[in-house]
Amino acid sequence: MHITRRHFVGGAGLAALTVQFPSLALARQDSFIDLAAGPSQQALFQPDGPTSDLWTYNGSAPGPEIRVKRGERVRVRLTNRLDEPTSLHWHGIRIDNAMDGVAGLTQDPIKPGESFDYDFVAPDAGTYWYHAHNKSWNQVARGLYGPLIVDENTPPFDREHDLTLVIDDWRLAGEGTLDVASLGSLMDWSHGGRLGNWLTVNGRAMPVSTLNAGEAYRLRLINASNARIFEIDPNRFGAKVIAYDGQALPEPVQLRYAPMLLGPAQRADLMVVPEAGSDFVIEDLSGDTPFAFAGFEITGAPMSQPNPPSLPPNNLPEPDLVDARTVRVEMTGGAMGNIGRVVYQGEPLEGSDFRDTGQVWAFNGIANLAEAPLYSARRGETIIIETINDTAFAHAMHVHGHHFRVVERSGSEVDDGQPWRDTFLIGPQQTTKIAFVADNPGKWLYHCHMLEHAAGGMNTWFEVS
Ligand code: C2O
Ligand code: CU
Repeated sequence: MHITRRHFVGGAGLAALTVQFPSLALARQDSFIDLAAGPSQQALFQPDGPTSDLWTYNGSAPGPEIRVKRGERVRVRLTNRLDEPTSLHWHGIRIDNAMDGVAGLTQDPIKPGESFDYDFVAPDAGTYWYHAHNKSWNQVARGLYGPLIVDENTPPFDREHDLTLVIDDWRLAGEGTLDVASLGSLMDWSHGGRLGNWLTVNGRAMPVSTLNAGEAYRLRLINASNARIFEIDPNRFGAKVIAYDGQALPEPVQLRYAPMLLGPAQRADLMVVPEAGSDFVIEDLSGDTPFAFAGFEITGAPMSQPNPPSLPPNNLPEPDLVDARTVRVEMTGGAMGNIGRVVYQGEPLEGSDFRDTGQVWAFNGIANLAEAPLYSARRGETIIIETINDTAFAHAMHVHGHHFRVVERSGSEVDDGQPWRDTFLIGPQQTTKIAFVADNPGKWLYHCHMLEHAAGGMNTWFEVS
């Protein structure tokens, strides 16, 4: 499914909107922020066009920006006003396991009408997000996600120079409303996941922000789509990468291997110092023609040369590669792939079982969570996960509760050495090694963040004691 320019023709054109969020700063540490997951209406296609039936946090997709300082406590009371159970995951946060929000693993699903109190400390500054973690393929596709920003102790960019862009690709049906009939399609599950045909940034198509020439801005890109990998070239608008998945790079990087890929759930923070008169757009280059999804108008003349701020690092535990234990994960299945022998819920799948259960992917021959963990780590042990993608598709692999370094990968050039990430992309027939210190006790998922793939079997877990 492609995103096409066609939809813009005859549309409302560029709307001058600011991309800034009203944010829920946690001024009072002793009180809970209320989030309610429930149905709401939102015009996705054009502001005055038909509205879609979404599921949202507090009435809008994305939900409100939650913003705290590094080391501060986050307290959120989530009330479920949906007709089905839900839970809330804090993506990329090195969190207390009981607060990780994985229904069925770290907590019971929150039933309709009930609520759950999330209460944790945000240890690292950076760009994160929150999203539903029960039937995510359905709940996230309908709008249950929002940004979580953790400010540095002394934020290098003030709020006027710090913009959050939550990008989503929705699948709209003919009249421009969310296509719910195709949710759960086995076609999507067995191919590249649910791809949309309409892009929004912070819930609006092609918002335009005004920036001042000569001033440094931080653009926090968050890919909230179920399965789309965006291709973005920061060189087209003179931007540098300053962080991936919340973690600052040692210094701003001008990419040599552009465009960069921004997979589902990944974040990239860019720094741009726009020049006078040089309006620009951010484009997705993954289709046949560039598709602009966010616009920037530059006003004024620079008063002085700015001193671009730099981001301080978080204190992540450095993996010890010499004494590490390596765990292999072989990915199989999907269309045009071999799946081999697969065990699901303790039983081998045969014939039409694959279609009937939707379990069309496997890790090491097991679809979805096994009874026993993939491995149990001693607390403090360095784990290397060697992931071998023996499928015909790319995947976006996410580790819960830990950031890792990408230490080795076949088949793709990257600019960034061995960056810290919480989600990495792996192409067909590639092998990637990630390393991290398993220092966070509890039960943690390792899964594909193409949400249809996760539901279709690409889901395992490990334990840290
Ligand atoms: Cu962003 Cu298991 O999730
Ligand atoms: Cu996948």
